Amino acid sequence: MSELSSSAASGHAIETLQIEKRRYPPSPDFTKQANARPEIYGRAFDQFWSDESKRVTFFEPWTELYEWKPPYAKWYIGGKLNVCYNCVDRHVEHGLKDKVAYFWEGEPENDRRQITFGELQKDVVRLANALKKLGVKKGTHVGIYMGMIPELPAAMLACTRIGAPFTVVFGGFSAEALAGRMNDMQCELLITQDEGWRRGNRVPLKANADAAMQESPTVTRCLVVRRTGGDVAWTQGRDVWAHDVLKDVSDDPKECPCEPMDSEDLLYLLYTSGTTAKPKGIVHTTAGYLVGVATTHHYIFDVKPKSVYWCAADIGWVTGHSYIVFGPLANGTTGIVYEGTPDFPEKDRWWEIVERYKPDILYTAPTTIRTHMKWGPEYAEKHDLSSLRVLGTVGEPINPEAWVWYREHIGANRTPVVDTWWQTETGMILITPLPGITTLKPGSATKPFPTVDAAVYNEKGNEVPPGGGGYLVIRKPWPAMLRGVYGDPERYQQTYWDRWKDTYFVGDGARIDEDGDFWLLGRVDDVMNVSGHRISTIEVESALVSHPAVAEAAVAGRNDAQTGQAIVAFVTLKGGKEGSPQMLKDLRDHVGRVIGKFAAPANIVFTPELPKTRSGKIMRRLLRDVSENRPLGDTTTLADPAVVAEIAKRGKEEAAKEEA
Ligand code: PRX
Repeated sequence: MSELSSSAASGHAIETLQIEKRRYPPSPDFTKQANARPEIYGRAFDQFWSDESKRVTFFEPWTELYEWKPPYAKWYIGGKLNVCYNCVDRHVEHGLKDKVAYFWEGEPENDRRQITFGELQKDVVRLANALKKLGVKKGTHVGIYMGMIPELPAAMLACTRIGAPFTVVFGGFSAEALAGRMNDMQCELLITQDEGWRRGNRVPLKANADAAMQESPTVTRCLVVRRTGGDVAWTQGRDVWAHDVLKDVSDDPKECPCEPMDSEDLLYLLYTSGTTAKPKGIVHTTAGYLVGVATTHHYIFDVKPKSVYWCAADIGWVTGHSYIVFGPLANGTTGIVYEGTPDFPEKDRWWEIVERYKPDILYTAPTTIRTHMKWGPEYAEKHDLSSLRVLGTVGEPINPEAWVWYREHIGANRTPVVDTWWQTETGMILITPLPGITTLKPGSATKPFPTVDAAVYNEKGNEVPPGGGGYLVIRKPWPAMLRGVYGDPERYQQTYWDRWKDTYFVGDGARIDEDGDFWLLGRVDDVMNVSGHRISTIEVESALVSHPAVAEAAVAGRNDAQTGQAIVAFVTLKGGKEGSPQMLKDLRDHVGRVIGKFAAPANIVFTPELPKTRSGKIMRRLLRDVSENRPLGDTTTLADPAVVAEIAKRGKEEAAKEEA
């Protein structure tokens, strides 16, 4: 664990906290119509979650609100329900058959679909029947590796309809990363697509899936959706085209009823990076998760029955699971799903989408806002964005400049901006403004969501008073919280619960100001946050050392104006070899193959040696100083202080190259 003061983002954020004096109180008009009323903060814990559970339809009512035997929680004990029924069928039964569930915008121009709840039900029923035909039953584990096409949410819902737990692997992950996840979960079937579109290029999803399945012996069937129509390799007996199986199955919901699941049945696993090379399978279960995401979605985004809501994340990350698929659909909300990138074919693609579908709510990541900021406001100015009423951000600390730009240029200096803090593990948003109530401060996620008991602790586990920095903790359970790390109870205990008794250790630094508002200061562990993607330093290091030319590697995150953090790798080659531009490219490609392109280091500093303590531990703190171009801290514990001077020199050369 690195000390708090050296966490990559903290210096910047602390400075921000001291100088940021701008305040944005809610407008009276917004307040009048807001879903959240000030009394919400006074509602008692048990009553709150008991009342909010009415958003969800249970086939059999729960009998006990929750049980907390640290570190394990159960919620809505004894209840029976089905997530797909809640997200789709009940809306159709309640007369919303013709309401649009998703406006889907493909990346190629004029490639659009509009899917009503009635159509979504048919799609999901057919897909669920197809999965059954391929042997999927309640309890069968399914892998999903797809791009942002309508069949992705349909696949997730089809699994939940049958009671088959799934794991979605983001389409940017490599074959190796996909195989690792499917092996850990022991998936028996994989749903994928031929290829995806990205900036006009084809992403070879099926080819990656083929390579992954060679290493995943439990996977015996592969259901393939045709998206681009590109050629793909085929394994007879294993692979089936979705359009072939779908023709022969019924779309009648009565012929594929929603399986009643226990409140605590496994819903999905989502793998996320921790502080070792092996990603953790975060366990989410059924009832608490659904109540948590539906409730937060309702209050935080101020969603109305007529809302058109756009969360521009990828469904492969938790933001997409909770706030593109399960939360919004449980609330019967019309959503937008966009397949491609913001700059294809032009940099105004997003704003064209806003003008076309007129969303009133937009939810995205700071890194994307900074990208739009860099391109300039003229792209947004070309389009009518007046439908927007609420803006949201998630995934990393937002710098006040980006926050204010977002509000001014996208929100016409009128919309609230909700900076929402949460994690894959928390399942739902935990620290956030409530629009209509909260006075906003650019750069602050403001207050814990009602009932959430967040605090800032020092090293000893004492609460830090206002103004001080420390470790963010959560002291009471919440419905959508993780139920464990799949197959690894020890890691669950150690990572999150061992530090302070019965208290959830978040892994982020934070400060609370005089008004009780929270300022997130970035990670305090060896996890980097690059463009809102969570990547562990050790995962990248182990990818690098798996290259035959590499003797040793150490990785650190440095601040980056656009991506939040960028990855810097310090690499020693075998046989005392010097680095070369070719080697740099090879190593970046290699990390792309092992993890995914998004994890490839931005810079690689080749060095004859890494700075180590006398006991042989790599001093990452010094490497962070080097990569930030900061004066070097204490080097007296180094085995050979000359090493770090050499690295610093090389680091500067590398930085100068980049500037040039
Ligand atoms: O460091 C925090 C940062 O993202 C981490 C969680 O990453 P992940 O599990 O991938 O989930 C991202 C989407 C929910 C956190 O530990 N983070 C997330 N939201 C914020 C944030 N940091 C500051 N402000 C936020 N609003």
